[in-house]
Amino acid sequence: MLTVTRTIHFCAAHRLYNDSWDESKNRDVFGKCSNEGGHGHNYTLKISVTGPLNKDSGMVVNVTELRDILQQEIFDKLDHRDLDREVDFLKGMVSTMENIVVKIAENLEKPLSNLGVKLVKLELNESDKNSVTLEL
Ligand code: NI
Repeated sequence: MLTVTRTIHFCAAHRLYNDSWDESKNRDVFGKCSNEGGHGHNYTLKISVTGPLNKDSGMVVNVTELRDILQQEIFDKLDHRDLDREVDFLKGMVSTMENIVVKIAENLEKPLSNLGVKLVKLELNESDKNSVTLEL
């Protein structure tokens, strides 16, 4: 199986906070990540897809077309945004790396399938210390 991976970077702000909990429980669970002013991350997202090798082009996917989809579906929606207030598909949930990566996978499924490839893995890093991997 051939897997093609493209990496994108975006910067965004967020706050870890569950509206159904009181201040003290949010503080206990999320610590300073629950501070009212929020904080920012320089996120890195690695997107891996697979599909049949096209004998004529020699490619599984045209990375230029992949780039355009990622730009449209992820970068344009998330870069320099407040993830909790400005991103429709993240509203109503705690903006953890886990939740973000699951929602991104949902958003990419159709456009990638239109491109003839299948999403197999997403890896979201919010720093060089923390990352979450979703394998599909
Ligand atoms: Ni954070």
